[in-house]
Amino acid sequence: MTALSIPTTTLADGTAFPLIGFGTSSMRGTEGASAIAEALRSGYRLIDTAAQYGNEAAVGQGLRDSGVDPDEALVTTKIAGGDQGRDAAREGYLASLRRLGLERAALVLIHWPNPSRGLAVDTWRTLIDLKEEGRALHIGVSNFRPEQLQELIDATGVTPEVNQIQLSPALQRRDTLAVHRELGIVTQAWGPLGGREGLADQFALRRVADKHGVDPSRVSLRWAVDQGIVVIPKSMNPQRQRDNATLDGIRLDDDDRALLASLDLGEEAAWDSREHEEW
Ligand SMILES: NC(=O)c1ccc[n+]([C@@H]2O[C@H](COP(=O)([O-])OP(=O)(O)OC[C@H]3O[C@@H](n4cnc5c(N)ncnc54)[C@H](OP(=O)(O)O)[C@@H]3O)[C@@H](O)[C@H]2O)c1
Repeated sequence: MTALSIPTTTLADGTAFPLIGFGTSSMRGTEGASAIAEALRSGYRLIDTAAQYGNEAAVGQGLRDSGVDPDEALVTTKIAGGDQGRDAAREGYLASLRRLGLERAALVLIHWPNPSRGLAVDTWRTLIDLKEEGRALHIGVSNFRPEQLQELIDATGVTPEVNQIQLSPALQRRDTLAVHRELGIVTQAWGPLGGREGLADQFALRRVADKHGVDPSRVSLRWAVDQGIVVIPKSMNPQRQRDNATLDGIRLDDDDRALLASLDLGEEAAWDSREHEEW
């Protein structure tokens, strides 16, 4: 079987970064490790996990089982809410590395801003240190609103390289994307298939998918990748893993994009990180 050929975008420092990665939440144990190994063997090189998912050991196992050189696999992990703070973030991150069996992660993110704790800036300072020490190659955040990004930048002068946010044709996040572009932040989309929003059943998406003779998931992914957004779809199924990273033949036009725009539920329909916190 031919290996997937995955397109790349560029981080602010010029590093090439895959536009299609692999989500792993809820993939645990032997079954999870073998799904992750399968994705890596197919050609995925960006693997998304988090301390909160309780599956970093399975990700590490999947990586070792895949036979892929650990330096070629870009593992993202995230600092859990309970690990925020100057020292706790360092301890949390080192524990993640131990579970993953890695010397360093390619990307480490603050998982949620959790404003009630007021520790996001301290946590960000620790990520900056970890990058300077070479323990993390790239650093960023997840679920940060524009004003929350600005707070980190104002306090430290360092802009996150990535913001991973809830995004799909059902949550198009145009204003947030414009802010990211202005700041040179690469956007990653979690939930890119819009399952929580019932996206796959929407008539407009099905119409575009039927026109191109592909399943709705691949239309959602193509739509995001066309905008330079990194998608991290999750699938336990080897065929769907491959399908999700094979978007080359799909060419969306202005009519398609106009139909998909009708699906946008609006910025405020995304999980609100001013209110929603995770630990
Ligand atoms: N930063 C955050 O706060 C945050 C929050 C949530 C998620 N995430 C990350 O984002 C990743 C992706 O998000 P997600 O897992 O919520 O949702 P998702 O990737 O949008 O959707 C996953 C679901 O879609 C199904 N699926 C995958 N490919 C498909 C296809 N081609 N056709 C039909 N169904 C398909 C999967 O089932 P099968 O396994 O049966 O294929 C699975 O049930 C997560 O795994 C995690 O790494 C981050």
